[in-house]
Amino acid sequence: MDLKDVQENWTRFGETDPFWAVLAWPGMEAGRWDPDAFFATGQEEIAQVMADLAALDLHPDRHTALDFGCGVGRLTQALAQYFDIVHGVDISPPMLELAETLNRQGDRCRFHLNPNPDLSLFADATFDFVYSNITLQHIPPRYARGYIREFLRVLKPGGVAVFQVPSRPHGLVQRLLQPIKPTRLWRGYQRLRYGQQPVMNMYGLPRRQVVDLVTRHGGEIVEIRSDSSADAAWESYRYTILKA
Ligand SMILES: C[S@@+](CC[C@H](N)C(=O)[O-])C[C@H]1O[C@@H](n2cnc3c(N)ncnc32)[C@H](O)[C@@H]1O
Repeated sequence: MDLKDVQENWTRFGETDPFWAVLAWPGMEAGRWDPDAFFATGQEEIAQVMADLAALDLHPDRHTALDFGCGVGRLTQALAQYFDIVHGVDISPPMLELAETLNRQGDRCRFHLNPNPDLSLFADATFDFVYSNITLQHIPPRYARGYIREFLRVLKPGGVAVFQVPSRPHGLVQRLLQPIKPTRLWRGYQRLRYGQQPVMNMYGLPRRQVVDLVTRHGGEIVEIRSDSSADAAWESYRYTILKA
């Protein structure tokens, strides 16, 4: 399972049912999301994130933010109410096309296709704030670790990153499957089972590994809180990081 497979999968989601692929709420499949209601969830989420940062006494500059795994821009547009410029990055061309079409924030939201395992499209110390929700959970761990390292590289000193990633599944069978899921063997099995249909793959990064990775790359963990935005079958966390 490499990034090409991930891209293929999310391209199909973007072509078939983009809003539902972003927020798989029951009853909202097959194009049933009302766009205003969909984007309102982004406004609520980001308002809460900004309130949480203030409660932690974190006040990053409000110039430039990154929304990693931006999809159709649900959170990118919401972040533009707090930051001058927000860059949304995604691996799926149709998601990004829709993000451009639905963008009401003009030049303040800038969308980028990034099929690479890094964020080399941005220089070191570019961002005051990096945000990523319900994205790293769909990326095989070896790549997810690379992106977290990149979050720290592209943050300015004094910048803040908030990202969510599951730690491990609750169920034993899923736990045993974890090492197999990022492999070609598993990809082959999924092709046989689902054909061309896209599949919502879920992966975790153990909390201990995330803490170690962040601290080794110049980040200070300010808060780790349990998070319910992943599938309920997973133990998941939201990490708030300050770049030294
Ligand atoms: C569940 S959606 C969440 C979208 C957005 N974060 C939100 O909450 O509205 C996951 C998104 O991550 C994107 N994605 C998956 N792998 C990615 C990668 N390696 N780099 C960038 N985006 C990726 C998908 O294309 C999809 O748009």
